[in-house]
Amino acid sequence: MATVRLDSVYPVAASDLTDDALSSLYARADRSESWLRVNFVSSVDGAATVDGVSGGLGGDADHRVFDLLRELCDVVIVGAGTVRAESYGPMRLQQPSADRRVARGLPPHPVFAIVSHGLDLDPASRILTDAPVRPIIITTDAAPRDRRDRLAAVSDIVIAGGDELDPVAMTVALAERGLTQQHCEGGPSLFGTLIAAGVVHELCLTMSPQLVARDAKRIAAGELAHPSELILGHVLVSGNTLLLRYEVAR
Ligand SMILES: NC(=O)c1ccc[n+]([C@@H]2O[C@H](COP(=O)([O-])OP(=O)(O)OC[C@H]3O[C@@H](n4cnc5c(N)ncnc54)[C@H](OP(=O)(O)O)[C@@H]3O)[C@@H](O)[C@H]2O)c1
Repeated sequence: MATVRLDSVYPVAASDLTDDALSSLYARADRSESWLRVNFVSSVDGAATVDGVSGGLGGDADHRVFDLLRELCDVVIVGAGTVRAESYGPMRLQQPSADRRVARGLPPHPVFAIVSHGLDLDPASRILTDAPVRPIIITTDAAPRDRRDRLAAVSDIVIAGGDELDPVAMTVALAERGLTQQHCEGGPSLFGTLIAAGVVHELCLTMSPQLVARDAKRIAAGELAHPSELILGHVLVSGNTLLLRYEVAR
């Protein structure tokens, strides 16, 4: 994993973090406590996409932390829009990552949970059929029943909410399955809903040294009654890239 240099400048200055040192900055000691972490990459002027995807923003340092966060969690939660836009495949980690998970006492791969209301997901897609662990589809009671029934053949369906997603019900349902370390990779619509419901504990944000302009999406969409305050956890630097970890003030 340590293919790209990362230095910590806050809270403790440290140079060229080893994989173990980096892990200890993100690993949570108490896995019994339910914790929802969200990870995004953004340009300095706030763009979450370039030409409709995030790939143009993330460099090697972002990829190093992106992979680590998957390695540490029980479940990776992704909105269906991001699954479609970013052409997600099955949630299968590289063998070294899977080995490190096993060494930590975790299953080799995290569970993949896809959030969708419309359930426009193909039950024959590789995301579902080639998954190393049976995926979860998180949806609402109002979702189309026929699609839900078809997807139930290849995934566990979790109903969280009636007409709209209930993020509290979602996080509780995952925790009840033993999936307490919850990691969300976006996208902006889902993140907006999660912030509004007050269920996000942590935001990891890579600040990519670019200006994008245009009318690119930001990392969060939707309405918030009040701005959500963040507390800085750490700052990592890799060349011109900043990797920020914030906790949401409670
Ligand atoms: N910069 C980054 O780090 C980053 C990360 C992730 C994504 N992105 C970018 O963000 C863009 C996608 O944005 P997006 O806002 O469409 O992403 P999204 O939140 O992943 O997808 C929206 C879709 O996910 C489902 N969904 C999300 N929130 C829901 C809710 N509260 N209730 C029910 N279903 C919900 C719905 O799926 P159905 O339509 O199936 O009902 C909805 O249409 C892409 O261009 C992607 O590249 C960037």
